[in-house]
Amino acid sequence: MKTFLKVVIFSLAVIIFYAFYAGSMIPQVKPAPPPAEAKLDMGSLTMEQFIQMGDEIFHGKGTCELCHNPVGGRAPLLDQAGKVAEERLKDSRYKGKAKTGEEYLRESMVEPSAFVVVGFGVTGTNDTQSPMPNVSTGAIGLKGFEVDAVIAYLQQKAGVTVTVQLPKEAPSAAAKEEAHPAAPAKTAEEVVNKYGCGACHKIAGQQGALGPDLTKIGAKKNKDYLRRGILNPNADIAPGFPAGMMPPDYGTKILAGEVEMLVDYMAKSK
Ligand code: HEC
Ligand code: HEC
Repeated sequence: MKTFLKVVIFSLAVIIFYAFYAGSMIPQVKPAPPPAEAKLDMGSLTMEQFIQMGDEIFHGKGTCELCHNPVGGRAPLLDQAGKVAEERLKDSRYKGKAKTGEEYLRESMVEPSAFVVVGFGVTGTNDTQSPMPNVSTGAIGLKGFEVDAVIAYLQQKAGVTVTVQLPKEAPSAAAKEEAHPAAPAKTAEEVVNKYGCGACHKIAGQQGALGPDLTKIGAKKNKDYLRRGILNPNADIAPGFPAGMMPPDYGTKILAGEVEMLVDYMAKSK
């Protein structure tokens, strides 16, 4: 009994020592302060900040990386796009209206079929139709100044002179939209928009042309298949489509409830 008590007292002493030691010596991890709400004060915006905004749009809400990445290989890389732009204008296949590199980049984003990079057109159209959506409408819906910010970013990335003008003012709605990017979606259509499925698929009124049409998929596939199609896209490859193009990391990004909304929605599409 005495030994038992000794052990208890010793253990307590150890616990108390470490509790104190840990509390006093090891820096406590403090929760980071919530990020300040992004405000768009166009009056004091510098070109550096504008380029930074373009960088964020390119990697975020613009969904450019869904296609412009080295893995899928179904869209050209854009590291040199700012430089390449000038050369496109001299191409005999160029049918657009742009006169400068900046105008070419803008046209590529809002009217992608004006010039289709060789080998990247919609299958069967002999490179006359681009599978890229107009990023200023639909689910992506970039505002004019956001398109300009991306152009500034692409020009800087390619090492050419940034020619876009800073915006004079921005609609305040843009700042509000950005305030809660991670809020859970409420309907299947919202989920589709939030994760850019319509950039590649025909689904929920969108006309993506790089992946299978999902508007009648429920007639052929059950919910397990559809769930796997989102969470583990390389488990089954739809015949006639390239493997590795659909982003493989949706499983780590889409909330569980959102996945089920998508699965139910697709299962009902017949
Ligand atoms: C659904 C896939 C997809 C998405 C999303 C997408 N693109 Fe594209 N993009 C393409 C494809 C495919 C091409 C090549 C065909 C063509 O020339 O239109 C292309 C071409 C381009 C070009 C012309 C490149 C050149 O060498 O002439 C630019 C510039 C461009 N995209 C910018 C963007 C930006 C910026 C975004 C995001 C705001 C974006 N794209 C989103 C698929 C996509
Ligand atoms: C960058 C383009 C791209 C995006 C974005 C994308 N997909 Fe796909 N998806 C594909 C391609 C290509 C295939 C066919 C190859 C394969 O099966 O992996 C495919 C296959 C599928 C399939 C299987 C279809 C079949 O007939 O077997 C489902 C289901 C699907 N995607 C759902 C989605 C959903 C839901 C989203 C959004 C959360 C999404 N995809 C986003 C390109 C994309």
